[in-house]
Amino acid sequence: LDRLFITHIGALALPDPARTGVLNLPVDVIHDTWLEIEDGRVKQIGAAGEPKPPDSTAAALRYHAGGRLATPGFVDAHTHPVFISWRSGEFLRRIRGETYQQIAAAGGGILSSVRGVRSATVEQLAELVRKRLDRFLELGTTTIEAKSGYGLTVEDELKSLRALHTAAAAHPVEVSPTLLGAHTIPPEHRHNPDEYTTLVCDRMIPAAAAARLADAVDVFLEEGAFTLPQARRVFEAGRKAGLSLRIHADQFTSGGGAALAAEFGALSADHMDHTDEAGLKLLAQAGVTVVLLPGAVFFLGLNDYAPARRMLDNNCRIALATDFNPGSCPTQSLPLMMTLACIKMKLTPAEALWAATMGGAYALGANDRIGTLKPGYQADICLWVADDADFIPYSFGNASPEAVFKRGKLVYRRSSAPTADLIQ
Ligand code: NIG
Ligand code: FE
Repeated sequence: LDRLFITHIGALALPDPARTGVLNLPVDVIHDTWLEIEDGRVKQIGAAGEPKPPDSTAAALRYHAGGRLATPGFVDAHTHPVFISWRSGEFLRRIRGETYQQIAAAGGGILSSVRGVRSATVEQLAELVRKRLDRFLELGTTTIEAKSGYGLTVEDELKSLRALHTAAAAHPVEVSPTLLGAHTIPPEHRHNPDEYTTLVCDRMIPAAAAARLADAVDVFLEEGAFTLPQARRVFEAGRKAGLSLRIHADQFTSGGGAALAAEFGALSADHMDHTDEAGLKLLAQAGVTVVLLPGAVFFLGLNDYAPARRMLDNNCRIALATDFNPGSCPTQSLPLMMTLACIKMKLTPAEALWAATMGGAYALGANDRIGTLKPGYQADICLWVADDADFIPYSFGNASPEAVFKRGKLVYRRSSAPTADLIQ
């Protein structure tokens, strides 16, 4: 049946798709209500105080939510899931005093993941991505942006993108793939970074676009990675290939990425931990979504969290994402990122929920389809044992949904959660 009623929802959290800038209360809440879902989309929302539809005529599936909280599934707008091995050795080295940049300069960091991906098959990578998609779902994430970036040759970047497609084709979590060939300079081009940039622009980007393997192109603008002129070349090539643009910028040092993202109308500008007021104004004017990644700041033991409140004061649109990767942020938990955003960036729990759902949807260019549960939106839904959505960031490191629906289908449930039944 393509018709489902979720009844007896204790509280339904509806992020407002129209809100941007100073958010404060960007989530409407309806108490004691129900949802009608047809063909994977929300068709109707009940009135407040009406736990089930007054009359049920045609046969349908019913899911009795038993007073649980319902939120949209999370949209994680920044992940790096195509890698072979964890890098827990770097964790210890950082605790003992080495910095992320020192480890990278010594051939660790991104380059150690490159060695793993280059020697792997597409099937090996796809199998690992599949397991990571399972984990995203258990944590309430129903859509991710996912980057390549640990291959750094034409062949190995395309292999990484193919692994994403293979894993996503058989999995409920939806994946928007991004080509991040411009992640760092690989060893064989160390003495000529411009030559590698040319390879990315003239061969890698056109090949990924021709094979329809990527929705977007990303570049890491940073000391030790790509320069501003090189990032501009990557953006020009991405635009020419008809792909959306993203940038990793201002993570460790401020480097002009905000102005570049604004000039090219990038879909997202990510990290932005050191962006100045002028840069924030440019991003707001150009409608670029800023993707906040507090997990990377926390896990690298740094102190400069992105100035999220100043972003909102300047009318920037924000998203909240994990940056899931084996180096700077091995967590897949958006609930945990919400906690960090509240404590370290002073977002309210409602703002953090908005950023992890609607904000992520904007960063994917999918804000008319996912990120909230208003009628017409995709029925990507998490049910929580909680009275209100503030509980999600409050229950620090503990929060995960009890059941998850993707396009109206129950795709994950803990044993304590109800199952659906048929009503006539
Ligand atoms: O977003 N900044 C660059 N890339 C990742 C880290 C990738 C890695 O260390 O493997 C990030 O933090
Ligand atoms: Fe990243």
